[in-house]
Amino acid sequence: MKRTLIVANWKMHLNTHEASLLVKRLNDRIPAHRTIEVVLAPSLLVLQPLSLEIDRRKFRLAAQNAYTKDAGAFTGEVSFTMLRDLVHYSIIGHSERRIYFKESLEDVRDKVQAAVRNGIAPILCVGETKQERAAGETSRLIHDQVTTALSNLTPEEVENVVIAYEPVWAISTFGGEIAKPTDIKRVLDLIRHNVTELYGASTAEQMRLLYGGSVTADTAPGYLEIEGCDGALVGSASLNYQQFADIVEGAYRVNHRQEA
Ligand code: 13P
Repeated sequence: MKRTLIVANWKMHLNTHEASLLVKRLNDRIPAHRTIEVVLAPSLLVLQPLSLEIDRRKFRLAAQNAYTKDAGAFTGEVSFTMLRDLVHYSIIGHSERRIYFKESLEDVRDKVQAAVRNGIAPILCVGETKQERAAGETSRLIHDQVTTALSNLTPEEVENVVIAYEPVWAISTFGGEIAKPTDIKRVLDLIRHNVTELYGASTAEQMRLLYGGSVTADTAPGYLEIEGCDGALVGSASLNYQQFADIVEGAYRVNHRQEA
């Protein structure tokens, strides 16, 4: 059984104290669910203290980024090797990193490989901009982002990679258009098709695919009901304890309905 993955991307928000307060509130509201995995991605600074505070039956941690090399003279960077005992996952290739920090397809590929080398499961983000979408480039772009990022992995390693489809135009801070379930399904199918061609159907089937972009407590159930959508990557709404707890609760209800 694939557990639904609900990921909170706190981006560059919340210091140690604020993060700790949010976790306490989430802990009060979110029970441990057999069918749901809740992952928190705080800033790097907050990972260590949070790792001591969280109830591990309810929450897992993710980094938002790290460097491609394991150690060395790279002032200002943190490696996946340093994070390996702290996190289960790392977000890699988020559109904010691709756009603001000019991460190339190859940078993202090397980070995916570095994470896997260190036993950390990548949450690889892919997605097109509004302009690319208007120009009809979505399929090609997603294909390039997916195939390049996975190109140094074995099929067994690919199974544990999570891919999040985050259309840039749907992210709240980039415009926040509400994506239609049909648009999302088309791209999730495309991603599974790309992975099937490269690594085979069983690998593609095992992988978890998420949707991200203006996910709220109201919209989450509709997205999680999409066939082939295994979870959500949540930005702004994950900073609000009530919203995020409701998103997890919504995921539970969707799973319950699907099991019934
Ligand atoms: P929002 O949920 O704020 O649109 O952010 C999405 C995102 O970028 C999550 O990684």
